[in-house]
Amino acid sequence: MRILFLTHSFNSLTQRLYVELAERGHEISIEFDINDAVTIEAVRLFQPDLIVAPYLRRAIPEKIWRHHLCLVVHPGIVGDRGPSALDWAILNGEPEWGVTVLQANGEMDAGPVWAATNFKMREARKSSLYRNEVTEAAVAAVLQAMDRFKSGSFTPSLPGAGARGQWRPLMGQSDRRIDWSLDDTRTILRKINSADGAPGVADELGGELCHLYDACEEDSLRGKAGEIIARRHGAICRATRDGAVWIGHLKRIIPGEKTFKLPATVVLNGTLADVPEAPLPLDASPDRKTYQEIRYEEKGGVGYLHFDFYNGAMSTEQCQRLLEAYKQARQRPTRVIVLMGGQDFWSNGIHLNRIEAADSPADESWHNINAMDDLVQAIITTDNQLTMAALRGNAGAGGAFLALAADRIYARAGVVLNPHYKNMGNLYGSEYWTYLLPRRAGERGREIMENRLPLGAAEAKRLGLIDDCFGANVDEFSARIEAIAQALAGDPSYETQLAGKRQRRARDEAAKPLAQYRAGELERMKLNFYGFDPSYHVARYNFVFRVPNSWTPLHLARHRRVRRKIAVTV
Ligand code: COA
Repeated sequence: MRILFLTHSFNSLTQRLYVELAERGHEISIEFDINDAVTIEAVRLFQPDLIVAPYLRRAIPEKIWRHHLCLVVHPGIVGDRGPSALDWAILNGEPEWGVTVLQANGEMDAGPVWAATNFKMREARKSSLYRNEVTEAAVAAVLQAMDRFKSGSFTPSLPGAGARGQWRPLMGQSDRRIDWSLDDTRTILRKINSADGAPGVADELGGELCHLYDACEEDSLRGKAGEIIARRHGAICRATRDGAVWIGHLKRIIPGEKTFKLPATVVLNGTLADVPEAPLPLDASPDRKTYQEIRYEEKGGVGYLHFDFYNGAMSTEQCQRLLEAYKQARQRPTRVIVLMGGQDFWSNGIHLNRIEAADSPADESWHNINAMDDLVQAIITTDNQLTMAALRGNAGAGGAFLALAADRIYARAGVVLNPHYKNMGNLYGSEYWTYLLPRRAGERGREIMENRLPLGAAEAKRLGLIDDCFGANVDEFSARIEAIAQALAGDPSYETQLAGKRQRRARDEAAKPLAQYRAGELERMKLNFYGFDPSYHVARYNFVFRVPNSWTPLHLARHRRVRRKIAVTV
């Protein structure tokens, strides 16, 4: 089928649906929902069999839904309507939630239902639920709706009187406002989670008006409700009336000014002099409830290194801390090191927000990419253990190449990879990609870089980028990873495999030293950071400040590419 995706942006859910439908042989083109005239033009150019709207913030123009079947993905149960579906589900502590695929008509979220899938709710950030449970449910529901459409015998119906869902308004700040003297820890976490990634819960901290993000419970530290009682690695710990919570990220509220998320201690810099640092050992128990970006755990000859950085972004300081942890892991008498990344993202490369906030974004970009390179180099040159990358969540740009540094790479089946840099203002990229990509994907590496499209785990496996993909969810995937790592550590051929790895590295080094790959990449990156062409700085600004799209890039809008080609030919 020819399917047009009409979407506010090419976000994670849209990317996942794109790879799932492309995998099934459908021809997909994408148009960002910018204005009605542009949307109507896109439909005229592409002449789709079906329109899918995975992430829309406005109604579809009548001129379109009257003549084409438009399937809208709504992150709510049958009958649920309104723009804050997940927010309400989290705040109200719904035990079960769902995704409904409905047909667009004159009323927002009120059309006939083509398919719906429910899931069990988890105490987690809205963005985490969206990237995991909602995405899986949306894929299942869209595929079912498409099967029903193809069958030609299905008639969608309006939700019956018994449907549990209902219309709910846009959730405002008054609905989520935290009262630190009254609210308990659970309520505070739900309020912050309901607004994380966006818009955040507005609050006051040390005299600063801020939006709060990246919250988790603290199990030991205690203090007077509302007080900031500790800090750790960019996060602050705030006492509640029955415990304490950590807040990792803040966004300053300055009327009339655009701001962006930064680590809490960076935003509150200067007001935290009396707040003690609360150190935590690298190998603190996984059962602890506390703020822990990097964690190391050992089981049966295998070391597991977790690095759960908010949004997968890795600043200079985070890369350096992770490198130190990795070096410690290397000193352990283990046979396998598994790089676990975070639960929602494996890694998204250098930290664009920290770079944007720096006095010299060019200098900070340079420091950050060098810190990333140091980490990648340490992984590539590990000669006394075998390494595995276990991608529970998505990886993008430098984060995807960080994974390629490992000897074996596995991904959860639903993971989406973006192993390319060009979308960030034609960034050349480093992380030794010029060595790692051809080593894995050969000639096809060039295409992957040029296409700038997301790759599903199955396709990444076919291309040789990863070794295998499995697991319907994070728990299933993690259990299998553990089994594979244990088996590898106990494999009778382990020593032979390790010797083979050392030989291959020595051969590669003799052919072209790693230092040369790095120097070549960094020479190009220097031009991106310090050269005449400001594209990278402009693209980073637009990304960090969430500047809305004003057109759909041609690598996504296939229908517009065709038109341009004809114009050129004529
Ligand atoms: N630095 C800082 N923040 C980052 C980031 C990075 N490298 N990558 C992602 N984020 C943040 C986004 O700003 C967004 O923040 P929010 O919580 O305020 O919404 C959040 O992570 C999720 O990103 P989003 O783009 O909404 O997720 P997605 O799943 O739709 O897309 C990517 C994933 C990887 C395609 C996209 O985030 C991306 O292009 N990131 C930049 C990668 C990059 O160029 N890195 C630098 C070169 S190594």
